[in-house]
Formats: sequence, structure tokens, C-alpha cells
Amino acid sequence: MNTLLRAVVVAAFGLALAPQPGLSGDSAATKTAAAPVDVEAAEKLYKRQCRACHGPTAKGLASYPKLAAQPADYIEGRLRQYRAGETLGPNTPLMAPRARKLSDQDIANLAAFISSLPG
Ligand code: HEC
Repeated sequence: MNTLLRAVVVAAFGLALAPQPGLSGDSAATKTAAAPVDVEAAEKLYKRQCRACHGPTAKGLASYPKLAAQPADYIEGRLRQYRAGETLGPNTPLMAPRARKLSDQDIANLAAFISSLPG
């Protein structure tokens, strides 16, 4: 009984010490555990590699989905899936090659930047 109680206390304590997911955009940074999110770098990258399809304010057009104001976790997840070669929508062949070149840091940066754009 005593041992069990101690195990429970230790487990609870361990949970308290484990890194907690931060508020909103923070989670992308903690997940990659690399450099902090660099929104300026993402803005440049977006202009060079994403704007042509998703639009200057990421509002999308026709078959190019709107990205602005999507949660950072969602954007990050989608980009990782495309990068991993998964087929998501009918136009995945247009998008996947763009994701393939992105690093974890690029993805975290882009997710933070794009989610901050007004929807
Ligand atoms: C050649 C045009 C093109 C370029 C350039 C492009 N995308 Fe896309 N993107 C698309 C299309 C088309 C889709 C929908 C693909 C599908 O059907 O799965 C898409 C889907 C996405 C999605 C998933 C949206 C959702 O709600 O499912 C994200 C996130 C995304 N793009 C981010 C980016 C980022 C970030 C860049 C720049 C690194 C980028 N895209 C560059 C065409 C493009």
C-alpha cells in the first residue's frame, strides 16, 4: 500500500515537472526543441515559396486553400504530412514538393507566422 502510494506521488510529481504545452503558438517551438520560432524568417520564406499559390495574405484562392488564422499545430501537422509523402487532398501533387524541402525549423516558423495572419 505504501509503495503504491509512493508510486502515485512520484508519477504525479513527474507529470508536474514534465514540460507543459505552452499557450497557443508556443507548442511548435517546444516540440522541435530547436531555436525559438523566427517569424521574420518565415515571412521571407512565405513570400518566396508560398505566396504565389496561397496569396499575399494566405487567404487562398480556388483550389489553393486558405491558410491564414489556421491553428499553428494544424499547419505544422499538414506540412509534416506532405513532407512525409502523404496524400491529403486531390491537389497534393501541387503542394507536396514545396513541403519536401522544409526543415523542422522552417515548418515551426511558417506555422507560427501563418497562424498569426488575420483570417
Ligand atoms: C504550387 C502551388 C503551391 C505552393 C507554391 C504552395 N502550396 Fe500549399 N497547397 C497548395 C495546394 C493546391 C494545396 C491543397 C493540396 C491538397 O489537395 O492536399 C495546399 C495545401 C497546403 C496546406 C494544407 C491546408 C489545409 O487546410 O489542408 C498547407 C498548410 C500549405 N499548403 C502550406 C504551404 C506553405 C507553408 C507553402 C510554402 C512553403 C506552400 N503551401 C506552397 C498549393 C501550393
